Amino acid sequence: MPITPFTDKLPTVFSLLFLTQILVACGGSSGGSDSAVGSPAPGSDDEPIAEDAAFNTAVGFNVVREPGARLPVTETDPEITEAEFALGLPEPIVQVPDGVDTSTNTAPFFENLQNLTVNAGDIVEVVYLPRDGEGELPGMFPEKLPQGSTFDDNFDGSKTFRWQPLQMDVGILKFTVTALDPANSLYRTSQPILIKVELPADLSTIPNVAPTLDEVIPHTVKVNDPVVFELKGIDLNGTVPTLEIPELPAGATFNQHPRFEEVFVLKFTPASVGELSFDVLARDSVDNTLTSVESVSLTVLAEDAFERPGLALKTLGANRNVKMGFAALQSFYHRPDGAIYASTAAREYDIVTPENSMKMDYLNPEPGRYQFAATDNLVAFANANDMTVHGHPLVWYRQLPEWVASSAVSTRETHMREYITRVMGRYADSVPIWDVVNEPINSDGTLRESVWFEAMGAGYIDIAMQHARDQSAEATLLINEFDIGFAGPKFDGLLTLIDGLQARGVPLDGIGFQLHLFTSYDQFEELRANFAAVASRNLDIYITELDVSLSGGAGTAEQAEVYRQIVDICLQQERCRAIQTWGLTDQYSFRSIFDPLLFDRAYQAKPAYSSVQEALAGQ
Ligand code: G3I
Repeated sequence: MPITPFTDKLPTVFSLLFLTQILVACGGSSGGSDSAVGSPAPGSDDEPIAEDAAFNTAVGFNVVREPGARLPVTETDPEITEAEFALGLPEPIVQVPDGVDTSTNTAPFFENLQNLTVNAGDIVEVVYLPRDGEGELPGMFPEKLPQGSTFDDNFDGSKTFRWQPLQMDVGILKFTVTALDPANSLYRTSQPILIKVELPADLSTIPNVAPTLDEVIPHTVKVNDPVVFELKGIDLNGTVPTLEIPELPAGATFNQHPRFEEVFVLKFTPASVGELSFDVLARDSVDNTLTSVESVSLTVLAEDAFERPGLALKTLGANRNVKMGFAALQSFYHRPDGAIYASTAAREYDIVTPENSMKMDYLNPEPGRYQFAATDNLVAFANANDMTVHGHPLVWYRQLPEWVASSAVSTRETHMREYITRVMGRYADSVPIWDVVNEPINSDGTLRESVWFEAMGAGYIDIAMQHARDQSAEATLLINEFDIGFAGPKFDGLLTLIDGLQARGVPLDGIGFQLHLFTSYDQFEELRANFAAVASRNLDIYITELDVSLSGGAGTAEQAEVYRQIVDICLQQERCRAIQTWGLTDQYSFRSIFDPLLFDRAYQAKPAYSSVQEALAGQ
């Protein structure tokens, strides 16, 4: 379906259909849970139960868990079918950036590629030789490599993909390599191939390989804090290895997880500072002589290593009427460094957003099945530490469960309403601020195509906002958007959307400015003007997802300066209510390779932390 520009959509806004939707939204029947097309409400089967304390690092609040096994979060990318495989090599995807004339510069391409059918245990070798119509040599990179595979340079312009698929790989896999135009590296061709892996008739031809330990990154913890490692064994032959720690740290317990047989849980409390490392041995369950050993390391720092001069950010923020916050890593209390994570957050912040646990694919992965434990735990943590919870997101085009993504268009309004009703219903008393609609606008200012737009047109936003208001008269209801920290068609599109909503009397209390920035960001005056434009519409401003990635060789001083300016602009705008970073520490940031946050991987305050402190203190 082509994307309809929002401005083109406006004349249809008062269509009979739309008016009907608004009337329903404004207090008629919800059209939701009672409808035949609805999905069942959560039942007692979905109610979390107490978690065994041996499995977490939480201090000061009770942790709950799902009553049964965690439900698989279905990806919206459907599995590749036999029928698709039979269609042959998938079409390449060509990205053409602005300014490229495709009549004089042809896109790079690959020669001699085809889909493959192989047996588990076979060795796959595919040579990639990208070509360019202009006779030069394109560069290339592979997208996600299957585990155990390599992509090696042949030093003649080609690279070879080598892989020995095993039992775990049976199925159809899509492997994609992207070629870059030599004249413009943003001009790209991504060429997938499909590899069908089957089981051979004689299973003994498949080599039995040693199991491995799933990747464990280094962690830093505070002395005398509880440490929990959830260690997971992986065997590409599809069996479950056992894990052993030949020399357990003093006082440690090491047990197989009662619900996830591939996970073993190590819990101990380091009583002295220093570098700690221990070996973990993974043992094959078919041939117990087949093992591999990996070393896990941990830095234990003294309590005073985490002390910071000056007042906490939330204290400084409170003096300026601005809440200071962060997005919480899902289940941080199951991480080795969960205790220092929690105490750092509790000291500094008074508002928190769940980074992932309220997303629909996680919370409602199957019709009538809900996973509330992670959000319940976040609410308990927030309550124990006097933090406000900011809900995120109720209606989004991404992270949808497969059952919604593939649902009949005529049922989608019901699904959207039910989700809002059930999530707000459960958390209305604990969550006073909500990102009701997330990322509704395209970069050109039109409304984004989505399962919701497809079903309800532009009116889905009106319906969602009104339905959220019907669940809570007091809640602060936001639209949250990215790439609106500068002038341009996207921000103009947001203003058009706001003006339309307000003209129609649709509830809207504020705008969430995400602000995923790079150190090269310098459009501060445009941000100031955008804030003013939103404030002049009698709306609050929340900086919801601030982070500043290091880019172009810039260092932490430049990063600190961008943070300082953003905080200053917020403080100079009286409708700016909160500043929340997207994550707490670089260790777990969704952009961790760019170290974008206020705390480094060892929970040490970076220069950006001090500059935020200074800005809040008016220095
Ligand atoms: O939890 C599963 C895990 O079980 C599985 O093994 C693993 C394998 O891929 O995936 C894990 O889920 C991932 C999840 O993050 C938790 O790490 C998802 O695949 C991954 O898609 C998800 O990414 C999140 C992304 O939104 C999509 O929901 C990021 O953490 C999160 O920071 C990011 O946040 C968004 C905001 O919600 C909206 N604004 C933009 C922002 C950044 O993209």
